[in-house]
Amino acid sequence: MNDMSRTPAAAPATAPATATAQPEVINRLDYSPPDWLVPQIALDFALSLDAARVRSTLSVTRAADGAPLRLNGDGIAVATLLVDGHAHNAWEMDGKDLVITLPGDAHEVTIETVINPVANTQLSGLYASGGLLCTQCEAEGFRRITFFPDRPDVLSRYHVRMSGDKAQFPVLLSNGNPVATGEGGDGTHWAEWNDPWPKPSYLFALVAGDLVAQRDSFVTRSGRHVDLAIYVRPGDETRTDHAMRSLIASMAWDERVYGREYDLDLFNIVAVSDFNTGAMENKGLNVFNTRYILADPETANDGDYDAIEGVVAHEYFHNWSGNRVTCRDWFQLSLKEGFTVLRDQQFSADRGSAPVKRIEDVRVLRAAQFPEDSGPLAHPIRPDSYQEISNFYTATVYNKGAEVIRMMTVLAGPERFRRGTDLYFERHDGEAATCEDFVRAIEDGAQIDLTQFRRWYEQAGTPRVDVAIAHHGDTVTLTLKQTVPPTPGQSEKQPMVIPLRTALFDRATGRHQGEHLVVLTQAEQSFTFTGHATAPVLSINRGFSAPVAIGNPAPDADLVFLAANDDDPFARYEAMQQLVVQHLVAAVTDRLSEAQRAAGRAAIGEAFAKVLADPALDDLMRGELIILPGEAYLAEQLSPVDPGRVRAEREALKAWLGATLADAWRTLHDRTCAVPYSLDAAARGARKLKTQALVYLAPADPAETIRRAAAQYAGADNMTDRQGALMVLCGLEGPEREAALADFHQRFADNALVIDKWFSLQAGSLHPNAIAHVKALARHADFTLTNPNRVRALYMAFAANTAAFHDTGGEGYRMIADLILALDPINGNVAARFVPPLGRWRKIEPARAALMRGELERIAAQTALSRDVREQVSKSLG
Ligand code: TRP
Ligand code: ZN
Repeated sequence: MNDMSRTPAAAPATAPATATAQPEVINRLDYSPPDWLVPQIALDFALSLDAARVRSTLSVTRAADGAPLRLNGDGIAVATLLVDGHAHNAWEMDGKDLVITLPGDAHEVTIETVINPVANTQLSGLYASGGLLCTQCEAEGFRRITFFPDRPDVLSRYHVRMSGDKAQFPVLLSNGNPVATGEGGDGTHWAEWNDPWPKPSYLFALVAGDLVAQRDSFVTRSGRHVDLAIYVRPGDETRTDHAMRSLIASMAWDERVYGREYDLDLFNIVAVSDFNTGAMENKGLNVFNTRYILADPETANDGDYDAIEGVVAHEYFHNWSGNRVTCRDWFQLSLKEGFTVLRDQQFSADRGSAPVKRIEDVRVLRAAQFPEDSGPLAHPIRPDSYQEISNFYTATVYNKGAEVIRMMTVLAGPERFRRGTDLYFERHDGEAATCEDFVRAIEDGAQIDLTQFRRWYEQAGTPRVDVAIAHHGDTVTLTLKQTVPPTPGQSEKQPMVIPLRTALFDRATGRHQGEHLVVLTQAEQSFTFTGHATAPVLSINRGFSAPVAIGNPAPDADLVFLAANDDDPFARYEAMQQLVVQHLVAAVTDRLSEAQRAAGRAAIGEAFAKVLADPALDDLMRGELIILPGEAYLAEQLSPVDPGRVRAEREALKAWLGATLADAWRTLHDRTCAVPYSLDAAARGARKLKTQALVYLAPADPAETIRRAAAQYAGADNMTDRQGALMVLCGLEGPEREAALADFHQRFADNALVIDKWFSLQAGSLHPNAIAHVKALARHADFTLTNPNRVRALYMAFAANTAAFHDTGGEGYRMIADLILALDPINGNVAARFVPPLGRWRKIEPARAALMRGELERIAAQTALSRDVREQVSKSLG
């Protein structure tokens, strides 16, 4: 410590957490603008894995009279503090905040901190990942690096200098443009970066280490030449082609579809293997989880390819929806995330099959967001309060947020919507904006009224729409009733604006006379349609135009009709899903006589046979149509639910379809095995069906399935086929299972992302001993709690494996609770992600519910919990 530094006797540098302290709640309506602005910041890093020195010089300007300068910190201490180059004593710690009293309206504040990146297991702030130094600052990680007003409405120009050992850190990267590099003495070198675009602290990034780049370039439509680079660990550069292609396609797409051009001379991506989430949109320096960059046919499956394309696009698109226009405060998170998810979904739809992409997106929404919306953690896409903002990077903010903006595109039409987004970007460029700003720009640009529509930002819960259809003379009357369920803190709900794309099919011709956009705005409302001589078949919420549940069941005959005839591919999928959902819900709740069970199965079998034989369907779409509704979505239809019954009935139906259509599955497997590997849609469709055929055949003829799967495994020239075959084998008993698992582990021993698959397949398998397998895997030499990908690979797959997780003895719940407790001190952010599976106890049958609650209480009883886990557990018990 030098003579200019001081630690006040009254307050320790970092306030200790008191176990009894009431958690602080941040409320949306308490927003107030910053007292001080920081137009400029110069950062100087002396890089080191365990003692990095950070010197930060802030140019601060007063925005409110009288207020001291309050800077956030987290786990750091002031080593040096200067104001305008001189020692300054008028400062104190207020909890974690550094509060400096300043006499004038503009000053230069210099602060030194020292941080230990290798000890940073939270992976927030500056941390080490396999000898590499990198940062993650969203949402509140910057305050773990240096003291700063760490809030998204403080925008600064960043100048960054870093120096370090040249051998240890040969590559030195930050945001913006490189301005200078040089050699220091004793084997060190340095680099300076300047980012001309003002940005909030959460978009700051620094990376230093031994990396190699794959390079390419892009010329924007106004002629700017952009150098592109994807940095990876040496050896991984052969697996970056797909990510680079995706990046270039994203850049062109955003110009064409949203009129958005890139705004720097270089765009860098770095892939790191220890990362809390998927990727991060830091200005000009995106940092990615390796799983969303690295791919080749040997090691990445078709889903991985799609995910890489989508995430690369998502982070790139943030350059406008997030960076150029950022969020005023974290309650506005959906402003950037919902909109950017919509943009990446639209991009992927344009790149491949739009109908298949829509089906996949809806499947994710139903599996992840619907349960959130009906549980103890339900919140509006723009939350009203939080304890820990990291807990609000949710399927609601992201995926429902995207659905809400998608509804605006339905209401406005694409051209008007584009006028709205043009106005939004023009009006708010360089600003920290709110969701309200976005809605108003769409209203003004698209010339539509979204007054009542704003309730989508305010009210949580999935609206349910009940449908009645009556036919008299040539008139059809559609009566729609909406109910928005109560959610925590919101017992009373107002009617929403629900745009429903609708068609009325003539039973005889199999056609409709044109689609109608029915916009439901009242609690109950009727709509009439003339010109229908006979009672039509209703196709509603086509394309999933609104994120709602259609409440009441449709007649099986109508669903069979739509499954075969609907010209909207999503509606056709939906009819298949509904047919199966209605059957399984009735089966699980013991409402099926044997005759009804047989009739229900026959209808489903007929629909499946048609889909398998229909020459007009491409294989990718065929593959979507034969996916049974997931257990989580089925559970949503039942309350309370016995997850064991859902698993059993779903598997029984699968076995019945396997046996009834056995020859069709064999023929399908033979046909698709003959299609050579390529990335085109036909070959991808064939691969999807190849493994699905085995999935259905498995319960009907396990011995034959094992033979076919073992052959598919042995002959695979790509990861989709190999992983698919191993997945099927994993659920069956026999030496082929063990042999394939051993081969897979040995073959890919040096590839962490593939070893993650090895863990996931076993944890998620249908094998009756999955619990024992997971316990053994937790002790495997390759398992570690410090790598989020590995933790998720084992335990997220396990928590989603209903039969294992919901084991009647409660062992599954205990294992997840033990994991949360063990992981929390290492990485609270990731640990909190495992609370929601236990939090669903209210919707589970009483015996299991008590066990789940017991585990939550056991966690809650711990005194030293992270704010992340504390919030999720207390709300789940609530
Ligand atoms: N903004 C990132 C995205 O594109 C999300 C993200 C990355 C994140 N890392 C994070 C959120 C860490 C919270 C904590 O969606
Ligand atoms: Zn995002």
